[in-house]
Formats: sequence, C-alpha cells, structure tokens
Amino acid sequence: MTLKRRTAILISGRGSNMTALIAAAKAADFPASIALVASNKADAPGLARAAGEGIATATVVSRNFGADREAFERQLHATLQRHAIEIVCLAGFMRILTPWFVGQWTGRMINIHPALLPKYPGLHTHERALESGDDEHGATVHFVVPETDAGPAIAQGTVKIEPGDTPDALAARVLGVEHVIFPAALRALAAGDVTMTGDSCFDRDGRPWHPIRVAQ
Ligand code: GRF
Repeated sequence: MTLKRRTAILISGRGSNMTALIAAAKAADFPASIALVASNKADAPGLARAAGEGIATATVVSRNFGADREAFERQLHATLQRHAIEIVCLAGFMRILTPWFVGQWTGRMINIHPALLPKYPGLHTHERALESGDDEHGATVHFVVPETDAGPAIAQGTVKIEPGDTPDALAARVLGVEHVIFPAALRALAAGDVTMTGDSCFDRDGRPWHPIRVAQ
C-alpha cells in the first residue's frame, strides 16, 4: 500500500488548484493525502468545496492579528501540527510568510506561482509577460524559501502566447497548466523523488533535479 504523506493546502480564495490536488490525491497510488485545507480568510470559496469533499478545514483569520505576522503564523503552525501535517502546499495563499514560518517547513512547503520563475515574481504576471512581448509564459511550482517567489523549481508548465492575447485569456490557459503541474510536483515531493538542500533540488540519487516540464 502506498504510504500517504499528510498534506495541508493553504488557500485564500477560489481554490481551483486545491481542487486539482484533491482530485489527484484520490488515486490509490498517490503518495499524499489531503488532510487539511486551511485559509486566512473565512469567506474563501475553496473552504466550502473542501468541506464538501469531507476534508477537514480550518480558518485562521490573518486580519485579526493586524501587523503581527508571527502571531498569525504561530496559530497557523499550531493548527498544522494538530492535524499532524507533513507537507504544506500554498495554493493561492495571499500572505507573505516570515522567515520563522518558512524555517519551520523548509523542504516541506511548496508554492505555485503563475509565471516561469525566475521571470516575474510578484503580482500581475500575465500583464507583465504580455507587455514584455514574450512568446511563452506559464507557471512554476517551487520549494518555499524566505525570499518571496524564489526557491528551486520542482515543475514548470508553459503555454504559448497567442497574438491578441489578453491577460484574462492568458491567465485561463496558465491556470489549466497549473492544475497539471501542482499535482505532479506534490507527487514528486511526497514520494521522496525530489528534495531541497540549501537552495537546490536533488533527485533521490543526489543528482541535480531537472524540473518536470509540461507544455500545453
Ligand atoms: C493561481 O493563479 C496561482 O498560481 C496563484 O494564485 C492563483 C490561485 O488560484 N498563486 P486558485 O485559488 O487555485 O484558483
């Protein structure tokens, strides 16, 4: 029987990546189980969807902690520990995390970012790719390190930029590839196929990791 690593998904909004992870984790041979969906916003639509799937949910309202980021994170961390979480997936979790929290989860926390990192960290990635005249764009799943939207890539998905593309049309196509690479990256991490040491990824034989690549 496949050993399933207890995984939490952190969301702030609609949770379409969360839904893709939940669907993938239903496969008998998937090496992770979704044990918790947690949000920093009580009205995140993804919470109800997760509950409907019978998954435990939790809300730690970040706004209640004001500027005290670590107090919020200590409560979130305690929630993750209570559910015996081993792996954390950030799936549209709109909070900058402190080095303290990142340090608690080094090598065990991954994020999805809608750009081909190291291009376009931060916000408005689709607009920036179009403004730059790029011919391709995409998304990256990477280990979380203290610097925002940095950290070595586990998987990247690319889409072609078409003439006349709008940010919304491009975002929709990128989202499609996100839903493929996030489950692939979680599978690789949970199975022990990829690990992070320092700022680099390695395969199970200790060789440099080549990010999983998906083109759509
Ligand atoms: C995605 O575009 C993801 O790359 C970014 O936030 C968005 C979340 O969308 N980090 P959803 O909530 O998973 O639908």
